[in-house]
Amino acid sequence: MPAPLRLAVLASGRGSNLAALLAAQAAGRLPIETVLVASDRPACQALDVARAAGIPVAALRPRDHRDRAAFDRALFERVAAAAPDLVVLAGFMRILDGDVVAAMPWPMINIHPSLLPRYPGLDTHARVLAAGDAEHGASVHLVTADLDAGPVLAQVRMPVRADDTPERLAARLLPLEHALLVAVVGLFACGRLHAAPAGIQFDGTTLAVPLVLETSSDDADPTAARLRAPGARAAPGAGAG
Ligand code: GRF
Repeated sequence: MPAPLRLAVLASGRGSNLAALLAAQAAGRLPIETVLVASDRPACQALDVARAAGIPVAALRPRDHRDRAAFDRALFERVAAAAPDLVVLAGFMRILDGDVVAAMPWPMINIHPSLLPRYPGLDTHARVLAAGDAEHGASVHLVTADLDAGPVLAQVRMPVRADDTPERLAARLLPLEHALLVAVVGLFACGRLHAAPAGIQFDGTTLAVPLVLETSSDDADPTAARLRAPGARAAPGAGAG
């Protein structure tokens, strides 16, 4: 058995994505060890989720640091001390300093509630409705110095309904976000997905277009959904194949 993937998670809010990762792990579907949960908001629920699972936490307040770069350096010193294999931004609501991100030795991924490159930034659900889009979704992308602009690894899509509101879209998308994040982390954990200087490698070839999460509305457990390369059949593997 290979060693579990060492995960550091950065979060600012309610921590439902973190909880989804931990639930998949507890169900034996995700070989991870969450070595740190760090936050810029000491009172956020994500830290409670981590503490309840016995995971080490770090809470750093931005106002205790001279500027953004100083905060980010302090944050990533804590991350480095935990020696992660992968860093996951799961509802981490701060823009990171570009130099700090560029110096990062581990791959770092972010879950974003839109079909990137459409709608980077905030208020994605309202913007989808304002634009009259027929489709919405979520993306997992590599974090680079530019906000929500790193290479997209995987996406999940869903139709927009005539009676949708931003709240309804957010509620319908959230379980799909969880499934997508669990599936992508699963691919890292079983070595099928990794970041290389030549680009993202998926099953030994450079990933040219994002993987797609296959979902069906009657899935009893949406986190069991499978990722596939567009045009290919889903393959089994570590709860994420
Ligand atoms: C998710 O919608 C995520 O896509 C966005 O922030 C939200 C975080 O939710 N970046 P949670 O804190 O994981 O519950």
